[in-house]
Amino acid sequence: MAAAIEAEDLVKTFGEVHALDGVSLEVPEGTVLGLLGPNGAGKTTMVRVLTTLLRPDSGRAVVAGLDVLKQPNEVRGLIGLSGQYAAVDEYLTGRENLQMVGELYQMSPRDSRARALELLDWFNLSEAANRIAKTYSGGMRRRLDLAAALVVRPPVMFLDEPTTGLDPRNRMALWEVIERLVGEGTTLLLTTQYLEEADRLAHDIAVVDHGKVIARGTADELKAEIGGERIEIVVEDPAHLGQAVEALAPYAKGEPAVERHTRRITVPVSGGASVLADVIRELDARTIVIQDIGLRRPTLDDVFLSLTGHATFGDEDVEAADVEALEAAADAAGGTGDGDAARTVAAGSSSSEGKDS
Ligand SMILES: Nc1ncnc2c1ncn2[C@@H]1O[C@H](COP(=O)(O)OP(=O)(O)OP(=O)(O)O)[C@@H](O)[C@H]1O
Ligand SMILES: [Mg+2]
Repeated sequence: MAAAIEAEDLVKTFGEVHALDGVSLEVPEGTVLGLLGPNGAGKTTMVRVLTTLLRPDSGRAVVAGLDVLKQPNEVRGLIGLSGQYAAVDEYLTGRENLQMVGELYQMSPRDSRARALELLDWFNLSEAANRIAKTYSGGMRRRLDLAAALVVRPPVMFLDEPTTGLDPRNRMALWEVIERLVGEGTTLLLTTQYLEEADRLAHDIAVVDHGKVIARGTADELKAEIGGERIEIVVEDPAHLGQAVEALAPYAKGEPAVERHTRRITVPVSGGASVLADVIRELDARTIVIQDIGLRRPTLDDVFLSLTGHATFGDEDVEAADVEALEAAADAAGGTGDGDAARTVAAGSSSSEGKDS
């Protein structure tokens, strides 16, 4: 299968920042590549280079068979882009915005009107079709911008965080639209912070961090790479988080992750249900009250956490467990953190690099 998007060793620096530090990737025709990475990883920079909006310092990129650096105008004719921030004309109605795009691309007025109405319907905007975009909510603008990117059915599409800010119903509607497009043969590069979105839509995933691709594969391959099941525990008292991490240590096959505000600990294990029973006994012996406990398969969120050391989206306080910090917090809160508990756990060794806590 020919590659619709091909990037080779792209480098882009902004002063001291290595936004792209030698990124190579390939997206076969008719497939979806999900580009995942924490804030500032270089995703938007990548999209801007591939869509001719930004010149890299070095490297090569070919989109739809054309050299992005040598034939930018031709490339623009073959791609669709919806950026991270919606760009719509505030003083045109939703329908006019879409029709205008069609006419810019030389569609007949009749065809562009028909396409506009079809897209407004797909994106649940029919009722607002004749209102000026200035009166649209944030999520409506976002959808209108996405619809605009789809007017001309380009063979290669770039969507930068397409569903950020959409409610669950509209997110799902967009997923269906995307699946329809891909079914019709469109190649898609998609960035997202929603890992279930990548899981559902992307044939292939590239995880980027600090301008480099740090992992590549299908969602299943990435999950298999970090291995095994997870035990997930919710403790009743946040002061017990540190002790619970210690109790889990002998069963852990990797770093536990702790989410303080939900009092949740997730830890990779192997051995299935019998480990679960052992863990329950162990916690019970330490009189740690658990509110919830379960065994589950790894998700892309686990992959992300294990690769980058921190979780993607809003959950700012998900991080690899630091037992001492947890106990200090429990002590400070006047909790029952047991200072004499054996500090055999090395789980605190990893830092929550790159983020202030
Ligand atoms: N025009 C610019 N001038 C200076 N620095 C920039 C510019 N554009 C991007 N950067 C820097 O390059 C790095 C990568 O930014 P980029 O926007 O590509 O990240 P991202 O992965 O899209 O992040 P997010 O998830 O927050 O959208 C960041 O450190 C950013 O501050
Ligand atoms: Mg971005």
